[in-house]
Amino acid sequence: MRRNSHSIAPSFVENIGRLDKLKIIGLDRVFLKLLVYFPLYDMRLDKLIASSTVFTRSQAKIIIRKGKVTVDGECIKNPAQHISEDAHVEYMGVSIKTPQLRYIMFNKPAGVVCANKDEQHATVFDSLFLPRIETLHIAGRLDIDTTGLVLISDDGQWLHRITSPKHQHQKIYLLELDEPVTEKQTRILENGVQLKGEKNRCQPAIIEIISDKQIRLTITEGKYHQVKRMMAAVGNHVTKLHREKIAQIELDSNLKEGEWRDLSQDEVILSKD
Ligand code: URA
Repeated sequence: MRRNSHSIAPSFVENIGRLDKLKIIGLDRVFLKLLVYFPLYDMRLDKLIASSTVFTRSQAKIIIRKGKVTVDGECIKNPAQHISEDAHVEYMGVSIKTPQLRYIMFNKPAGVVCANKDEQHATVFDSLFLPRIETLHIAGRLDIDTTGLVLISDDGQWLHRITSPKHQHQKIYLLELDEPVTEKQTRILENGVQLKGEKNRCQPAIIEIISDKQIRLTITEGKYHQVKRMMAAVGNHVTKLHREKIAQIELDSNLKEGEWRDLSQDEVILSKD
């Protein structure tokens, strides 16, 4: 049977070939971005089977090599073959549903912990009521008493991108403080405050003064208890902490505390910038 070019993801070499043609009409950069944005376009056949059936990755390799798997009607014996999202995959004539990656925003209430399991407290995952929660992970945990935006996904590449210090994604927090924030405190935070026990100073923060005891703080790192430690380092104390935004993703004001929704495609894509 003829290979269906829509369903089997093109190899890197094939893509580069296309790129040359697209360059002529100036679309090469757009095409390259799309390749980065849609990782499912790049899923290996053995991985796809292992994530959508009871087979382990090594069992998936065996059944593929034995010729028991078809992609859009064609028998594929290479476990490393890359498969696109819309491919129709069958094992011995039985259809395998390709897994959809999940991207979620959750409005975390105080008292809920960002952990997969906890003996004493409700976890973020307890509130989701979703299947396969063991595959989901949090991008940047919040303390038990912190409220606001939590991003959750089963897309490892995306999670890494959001949290990796290399990408310097901004995180925006709303803070209530014990003492009025002073000019000196603001200056130190804006220049990069030194935290106890850290080798390097923090990256410069952006401060917006809302009222004398309320500020909006933008940081690009995600050190342990970073915001509370930053304020302690300048001699103040955080009494309330709420995360409003991570990268381009803003907490949806329609979400009540404890509620979640799927991210839109735009939100997923924008946050990869
Ligand atoms: N910084 C903190 O100190 N706590 C949080 O929950 C998030 C950032």
